[in-house]
Amino acid sequence: MNTAVPDRAKFHHMKDGTLEDWTIIGAEVQAFSKTLYQRIIDHLLLLEGDCGGFPVDRLTHCLQTATLAHKDGKDEEYVVCALLHDIGDTLGPANHADIAAVLLQPYVSEENYWMVKRPVLVRLPARKTERCTQRNEQKANKRTHPKTGPPRRSGP
Ligand SMILES: [Fe+2]
Repeated sequence: MNTAVPDRAKFHHMKDGTLEDWTIIGAEVQAFSKTLYQRIIDHLLLLEGDCGGFPVDRLTHCLQTATLAHKDGKDEEYVVCALLHDIGDTLGPANHADIAAVLLQPYVSEENYWMVKRPVLVRLPARKTERCTQRNEQKANKRTHPKTGPPRRSGP
């Protein structure tokens, strides 16, 4: 097990930062950036079970949207934008498109940034009711029965 404490800058005011301080900070920023993909995936998965009144949860909707984009022959960047277009919903339900657009902006074209910022332009797939209902029940059961797990379903 690695118990080493990472180096840290020593200054208390930015104006007092030395080359050594900024070298430490720069190295930490680079290392942290390499795991961004995992934080994006983790945050995307937070959309599971969040239906917001819609027939399917937002994770399913994002997967459906990305799948449609892929089937339409869109390039990888477009498909990723379709996949992540609602990722901001958990933190900013009133302006989730802005959150997704800001996250993607450094990595995508101006055209795709513009598209994500205007969510009505992202093609919406057909939705199914049953899947979302089942996921919500499973999540509720996990919260209610954290040690024993969800009760078995009876019947069809
Ligand atoms: Fe959406």
